Amino acid sequence: MSTSITIPRPDDWHLHLRDGAMLAAVLPETARDFGRAIIMPNLVPPVVTGAQAGAYRDRILAALPEGMAFEPLMTLYLTEDTDPTDVAAAHASGLVKAVKLYPAGATTNSASGVTNFDKVRPVLETMAEIGLPLCTHGEVTDNHIDIFDREAVFIDRVLDPIRRSTPGLRVVMEHITTANAADYVRSQDSDLGATITTHHLIINRNHILAGGIKPHYYCLPVAKREEHRLALRAAATSGDARFFLGTDSAPHTDENKLQACGCAGCFTATNTMPLLAHVFEEEGKLDNLAKFASENGPNFYRLPVNAGSLTLVKNEAATAFPSHITSEDGPVTVFDPGFPVHWKVA
Ligand code: DOR
Ligand code: ZN
Repeated sequence: MSTSITIPRPDDWHLHLRDGAMLAAVLPETARDFGRAIIMPNLVPPVVTGAQAGAYRDRILAALPEGMAFEPLMTLYLTEDTDPTDVAAAHASGLVKAVKLYPAGATTNSASGVTNFDKVRPVLETMAEIGLPLCTHGEVTDNHIDIFDREAVFIDRVLDPIRRSTPGLRVVMEHITTANAADYVRSQDSDLGATITTHHLIINRNHILAGGIKPHYYCLPVAKREEHRLALRAAATSGDARFFLGTDSAPHTDENKLQACGCAGCFTATNTMPLLAHVFEEEGKLDNLAKFASENGPNFYRLPVNAGSLTLVKNEAATAFPSHITSEDGPVTVFDPGFPVHWKVA
């Protein structure tokens, strides 16, 4: 016997596509199931100007296989030299849908990020005026702060002060990993939203560290205690309009993951939707999957919900997902939830 669910074609509100050979390898994995995605700008060098975002968008569309429909929603990487006029023009032209804040040194390719938040004040004020959302990698980078506390400290020391001093600034707290972040979102108005990844609904820090170190579960922000994973599940499946899907699917070759100093990132583009169906069913909230994956995101970004649909089917037999995808740079391991999943995209 099989069960099925049909939802409006989902979007991914936080995605790493990279460039060149890796872009060509990973793009179809997302475009197969998703209508649009917010494309992270942390290339080397980063996507800083409107002109660079336009060129990157062209490369993405050129890499899209024939017959696949997918709209990349471009972002700019905020630096201390970002020009507010360029940001406003890139937004007015319809090209850029958000600006990404990486605290300098927080994660992969974040060296050009922000250290002195006073320097980006004019850009933030422009963004508040024009309604352009700021996407935040919400972790402080201070080495004195324990890595498991960096998100909670970021809210108090950076995010809340920025929001108080920039009224009207619309903010997406990306890939939240703590109950603290979910509570903060709920305590604020609708100018604040948050994305939640697929993997943070599935793993806690034991998955990374207990019984041997598992580099493929290492990402940033790092997965926290079980109580936080449960809080994220409650937020994601609640239907609350402020929480929506951002996979943070972040491909790195196995060679770069399986290192003495391995890269952060889980690659979930291939199996995200079946995994989410599993999680939402487990929580008894399958009816809210459409809100999380297809409706809340466009509503926050003031875009229409996609016209198409996606059907997920639950079968007797467990679904066999590929263990990895191949790229000219080398294999990329697909996130393994560690339990059988019976859902499949029809
Ligand atoms: O795990 C992560 N990988 N977190 C990030 O913030 C960046 C990303 C990447 O680009 O690999
Ligand atoms: Zn990311």
